[in-house]
Amino acid sequence: MADNNTDLFHVMYTCRSMRRLKPDPVPDELIYQILDAAVRAPSGGGVQAWRFVVATDPAIRQQIGAIYQRGWDIAEKNYLDAGAKMDGNMRAARYLSDHIAEVPVMLFACLRKRGIHAKRLAGPNGIDFARLLGGSIFPAVQNILLACRALGLGATLTGVTCQYEDEVRKILALPDTITTYGMITIGYPIGKFGPVARVPVEEVVWKNQYGTPLQRPAGYVSPAPVGKDGKG
Ligand SMILES: Cc1cc2nc3c(=O)[nH]c(=O)nc-3n(C[C@H](O)[C@H](O)[C@H](O)COP(=O)(O)O)c2cc1C
Repeated sequence: MADNNTDLFHVMYTCRSMRRLKPDPVPDELIYQILDAAVRAPSGGGVQAWRFVVATDPAIRQQIGAIYQRGWDIAEKNYLDAGAKMDGNMRAARYLSDHIAEVPVMLFACLRKRGIHAKRLAGPNGIDFARLLGGSIFPAVQNILLACRALGLGATLTGVTCQYEDEVRKILALPDTITTYGMITIGYPIGKFGPVARVPVEEVVWKNQYGTPLQRPAGYVSPAPVGKDGKG
């Protein structure tokens, strides 16, 4: 039975990367609705310098897919060389790469560079500023992931194509002022949504000063499994 529960916390706790997707097209109304949710996100100074490219054209998806596959082959090797196992997550990522050109919607989340950015990036705190810039697009990306989940669409944020930006730029006709921050693959899932497992709060949250864990209140039961190994 389809899971139609759109309670915000249920959506957040079941919004995992869905990489096995049907090739069926996603209706334009849903794509628009997802992007209407994206542009409700906060951005630094309220500037809304985000720009999005929705790629559904098969010829474009084919070309992006070829870049993605090349990139994923390298990324996968790097993960395995670093000791990662070919677990469920890695197998799903391999599946996405093998079937990438069949993904019906490739949504690129971008930021428009502003004149002031170049100056600040070149300045003494340029690295800090670069870190801040992503903060003006990833809240919109998370809105996209949550909107997809709420609408029953599978989605995954991917970073591979950012490393081949010059090639992507040509395919998508991106002006020089536009930088990509990620590609979100979207389609109807083959499998079912399930709970997101994460390292528990008390292992990653400190109270007042780093080192004193924030304790779980007595009686609090997490709605989703905890204990998944983080790699950090
Ligand atoms: C910045 C970023 C880049 C990512 N890039 C990729 C990617 O290139 N390919 C992929 O299959 N998944 C990618 N992911 C998805 C993560 O692997 C995934 O969110 C993580 O393993 C947790 O799994 P879950 O989302 O199913 O809970 C990326 C996630 C983030 C946040």
